[in-house]
Order: sequence, then C-alpha cells, then structure tokens
Amino acid sequence: MIACDAQTNLFTISTRRTTYQMKADRHRVLLHTYYGPRVDGADLSYLIRYADRGFSPNPNEVGDERDYSLDTLPQEYSTCGVGDFRLPCVEFEPPDGSRLADLRYTGYERRPGKYALPGLPAFFGGAEEWETLVIFLEDAAAGMLVELYYGVQEDCDLITRAVRVVNRGRETVRLRRCASLCLDFQRGDLDFITFDGCHVMERCLNRTPLRPGIQSVESVRGTSSHHHNPFVILCEPEAGEEWGLCYGAMLVYSGNFQAAAERTQLENNRLLLGINPYHFCWTLEPGESFTAPEAALICSPDGFARMSCQFHRALRRHLIRDPYQGERRPVLINNWEATEFDFDAEKLVDIARGATGLGIEMFVMDDGWFGARDTDRSGLGDWSVNQKKLPGGLEALVPRIQALGLQFGLWVEPEMVSERSQLYQDHPDWTLGAPHRPQTRGRSQLVLDFSRPEVRAHIYQALRRILDSADIAYLKWDMNRSLSDVWSAAAPAGRQGEIFHRYVLGVYEVLDRLRQDYPRLLIEGCSGGGGRFDAGMLYYTPQIWCSDNTDAVDRLRIQYGTSFCYPVSTVGAHVSAVPNAQTGRTTDMATRGVAAMPGTFGYEMDLRWCTPEERETIRRQVAFFKEHYALIQTGDYYRLSDPFRNGTYTAWAHVSQDRREVLVCLVTGSTHAAQPFQTLRLRGLEGSARYRADSGQIFTGDALMHAGCPIPLLPGDYQAVQIYFRAE
Ligand code: GLA
Repeated sequence: MIACDAQTNLFTISTRRTTYQMKADRHRVLLHTYYGPRVDGADLSYLIRYADRGFSPNPNEVGDERDYSLDTLPQEYSTCGVGDFRLPCVEFEPPDGSRLADLRYTGYERRPGKYALPGLPAFFGGAEEWETLVIFLEDAAAGMLVELYYGVQEDCDLITRAVRVVNRGRETVRLRRCASLCLDFQRGDLDFITFDGCHVMERCLNRTPLRPGIQSVESVRGTSSHHHNPFVILCEPEAGEEWGLCYGAMLVYSGNFQAAAERTQLENNRLLLGINPYHFCWTLEPGESFTAPEAALICSPDGFARMSCQFHRALRRHLIRDPYQGERRPVLINNWEATEFDFDAEKLVDIARGATGLGIEMFVMDDGWFGARDTDRSGLGDWSVNQKKLPGGLEALVPRIQALGLQFGLWVEPEMVSERSQLYQDHPDWTLGAPHRPQTRGRSQLVLDFSRPEVRAHIYQALRRILDSADIAYLKWDMNRSLSDVWSAAAPAGRQGEIFHRYVLGVYEVLDRLRQDYPRLLIEGCSGGGGRFDAGMLYYTPQIWCSDNTDAVDRLRIQYGTSFCYPVSTVGAHVSAVPNAQTGRTTDMATRGVAAMPGTFGYEMDLRWCTPEERETIRRQVAFFKEHYALIQTGDYYRLSDPFRNGTYTAWAHVSQDRREVLVCLVTGSTHAAQPFQTLRLRGLEGSARYRADSGQIFTGDALMHAGCPIPLLPGDYQAVQIYFRAE
C-alpha cells in the first residue's frame, strides 16, 4: 500500500511486514525517514535529528540555520558536491564542466500496477498485485529532472526501485553516475554480507561489521561476475536465519555494478547500489533520458530465512516469465564433461542412447559443434555446423536424438569471436578493442561489440538460422571471458563511456527478440558457470548454470551462498562423473544426486559407462526428482546449516507452500570414528500438524522444529540422506 500525504509531503509504503517512508521537508529536500518492521499511521520524521556539526555545510537558502546540512540528514536519493560528502547517487556535467547535482522535490504520482523499464529487465505484475509511486525531483540549475520509481508488491515485502533522469534543459549534460538505490540508515551497527569468489567457486558468503569509511563490492568486468554478486545484505550484528533485522538489496542488472556501504561520521550507514561509475559517462542531449537498472529490496524483521523465501517467491512469480514460470523444466544430459571437443555424431547419439530408459528428457550438445571448433582457440563466431563432425548437420542429428525419446538442446556463445574464424576475418573491427593497442585475449577469444546494431543483427540472424534448421527446445547461452579493452569503433570519443552499458543493453535486446520469436525456447544462461548469475539475466533466461564446479561437496557451498537470493528453479545443477574434473574428489552417485536436486537437475557425464547399480540409482534419482518437483521448485527453501562453519554436515529443507510436505536433505562432510548423533531442527512447519516420515514414524511440527529430526548415522565420507514428510 502506498499512502501519500500531499499536505505534509509524507510518503509511506507498507508491505505485509515492513514500512518504508520518506518525506520532503520545508526546503523540498527528500529525506528518508524509515525502513524496517511495519509501523502504521506514524510520521517517522521525528527520528531525524538536527545539530550543527563542524565541516558539514549548509545549503544557501537556509541562511544561518547551521544545524541543517545535507551531510547529516538521511537522504532518499543523494546529491553530489553541494554539501553531502557521503556517497553520491547522481552527478551532472553540463558544458561548463561543473560536476554537481542538487535535487529538490517537485511532485509525485501514484499508478496502479508495476512500472516497466523499456529495454531493461524488471519485475512485472498487474494492478491487482502491484502499485507504483513516482517521485519527481529536479535540479533547476542543470535543467535535470530525476524520477524515482517505487514498485510495491506487498505479499513478498518487495520494494523495487528505478531511476529515470531527463535532460529538460537546453544544454548537453553528461551523466557521470546514476545509482539505482540509496538507502540511509540512522544506525551504524550493521553487518555487510556479500557473495564473492572466483571462477569455479562463486558466491561464497562473507560477513563483516561495517567500519568507518566505505566498504564495497563491485564488478568492472562487463558482467556481474564470478567475483562479486550484485546482491548484498545489511543486517543487525546478531541477525541469523531465524532472528534479527536484515535487508537484502539486489540489482536487476548483468553488467558493471557497485554495491557500496558507507559508515559515516555520525555512525550512520548509507547503502548505494547501481551501475558502477567506473568508465561510465552517458551523454544526454536536451530532451533525452537515461534509465538506471532496477534495484529490489526486501526487509525481513526476523532473519535471513524469511528474507530468502520472500526473494525466491518474488523472483519466481514476478521476474521469471512464462512459460517457464510454472512449467516443469526438462531433466537433461549434457555432453561437455564427457567429451569436451572430442565428438562426432555417432558418439553423441551413443551418449544420448546411454541416457535412455532413465527418465532423462533432453540431450544437450555443448561446445564444439560449429565452425573449426576442435579446441577453444578457434571457431567462435562461425555459427554453422561442422560437417566433418556432424555430417548432414542438425537436420540429420536432431531427429536421431528425438527418436531416442529425448528433446534436443544446443550450446552457443553468441557474444564472442575467435581470431581463427571467418567472422573475425570479415569484420575485425566488430570486436571491442582500442586503437593502436593489441587486444587482450581471454580463453583465446575476443569480445564482439554488442553495442553495435549491425553486430547484434548479424548474430541474431545466425541464431535464427540455427533455431530454424531443426527442432531445438533449449539453448545454453554461454559467455566465457570478461570484457577488457572496452572501446567501440562505432562510437565517437565522447561516447566511449556508454559502451559497457550499451553492451549489456545489446545482449538483453537479442535475448528478448529470441524470446519473442521462440516463446517456448528454454534458454539457460551461463558464463563459465556462474559468472553472470544475476536477476537481470534471469528475466531472459529462467535458469543459469550455477558453476563450472560440479563437485558435489564444493557445490553445496556455492549453492548455499546462491540460495540467499536466488530460488532453486534458477540454479543449473547436474550430477557429473568422478573423480571430479575440478577437485579430483570422488563422491557416491547418490550424494551427487542429492547435491544436484536443489536445482534444475540433470547429468553431465557419459552414462554409457555406468554400472547397472549406478544406472538404477540414476533411474531412482530422476523419478524422485520428478515426483517431488513441485515441492523442490516452488516450496520454501530453508538452509539448516552453514557449510562454511559446519564441517560435519550440510543440510537444507524444502517445505511446500501449504506446509503439508517437507523434504529434508543432508550431506555429511569427511567422516570420523565415533560419530555423534545428529538432530536437525527444521523450520517453517505447521506446529500442530502431524508429519509422517517416509519411514512411517510420526512427529508433530513443533517437535521437528524445536526438538529436531533425528538423522541416521551415515558412515563414510560425504554420505547423503533425504527424508520426506507428509502431514496427515
Ligand atoms: C563454459 C561452460 C561449460 C561449457 C564450456 C564449453 O566453461 O560453463 O559448461 O559449456 O564453457 O566451452
């Protein structure tokens, strides 16, 4: 619910459990008064205190009112260079070279439903579920209008934010920064939680108390990156899964981002989230506008579990689009780890044949099927079938796969080009790279300049030709290097600061066109695994390959971090062969299955070489996954242990929305003699309900939540167990 008081300029947003409030004061400065547990019917601006603080200057119009400073007041969208020395949201550079921004409130609008952002991914929904508030601010001297958008989805406690900047003046203005979200807290004792790592070890949770100054995570790689995720949490120091106030903030964007938290002189905090100002400069001619990507906030008054469940619901219902919002995704087999580049049609058909009779529904042909692609040093950009490997092309191969009862899926890496390719020979200037400098290679490849319409048109047509040539149900859209040497041959010098963002917009545009042309095509995002695992991509690709690390034990950590924001249905996870290619570790097939099930589920191995016992295990795994698909994919997901702290086991549970069904999953660590008994306290059950375990034993919900669920002794390293409960 949005309440606007035009007399007092007080704006109160209420969701089921939270309240968000701001107020334009007598100087028309938009102050942030409160965000936290729900407080009804109150003007919370009494929380804002005024005092004369040394070296905190005063706006001209307040005269000698020295206790009024932008530097000390909580701002809704912070200004730049006019007295607030904390993190600025926006910075305007008119032709005179000044780089300031001074914003004052001019009005508001309420709209039914959720606003949309043309060309950008965004949460969506109709008037029955969403409301929009738009607040107008202006910088009169620069002639700039700033529109702050708030989308409110009460059930999920979700507040989305976006910003549109319009040049209303007569001069060209360069926009030097434009954050999507600013959140001022009138308290200092907060922890900052980020999800960091590297290729093959993404989204590991790091938690640190905020200290004076700025702490930030960011990407300058052109993608959201393996290294830091555009999702962060601020929380009370004592916050845990079940208690404590926490705020999750997510950027719905796949390019360079910055998430910065600043602890100020007054021991308050500011959180800023948006496009990274690094190498960003957008020219706005009179009448032109710029829209910053969407950010989304969820506050949970009682811990991370609720925050995550709410993010999961919000993403599933309001970001993932049809038909894959509700439809079951196929259990697939992918040939990459089994063959890498070394295959031909016969081998692939054999591998696919090995997957029959197990309940697997799709075969995905990974990298190596096109151009001169026998290694990862050549071929990218030449999107026509390698006839030596696949005589007769996809037209011949796909029906053979389908005859085995499997759908067909295909790997592509459309944003890239190898120097050893026809495309590069024809269009060397279609790559990113500055004049008179040799280009930096990554995985021996260069990056196509997706900011250019002719490059996008060429790739789009190439993809269409492939998709029209055979019955292809799925694409794995990969992206295997970071952007460097970012300079476009098609843009003038003054516009080079737009290329990083224009690249991302270009990727979104091609993905969106494909979605319109092939509405049933399932696209799985990938960037060397989880290098672009963000809500922006999820708007176009409802699932993303979570990590190139398929080791079951490492995956539990990666999936743990991922689960704080992203729902199970978005997490690409497969069972792969042992010893694992990344770690050399050997785990049981059963354990690998349990570890891959909180995801889209599939296999990444040559099933021809499995023993009859392993095949039986796989058959049972697939049947189990399908039987409990709705529970796993749409149930609430509860972390029951922290794999970074608990070496004994990693546990989680899926609880159906009606709380009638529960699936508890646990994987042990390396074993020791004289194992202690483990009892696992569950979450999110109906206290008075009676739950029957698959063993037949009956427990009350309260007993399982407060006293715990007994876990059998599991001798051996990395053993797994799943326990299914149904309420009677
Ligand atoms: C990336 C992907 C892998 C695989 C290879 C193919 O690393 O993450 O799954 O598709 O590319 O080159």
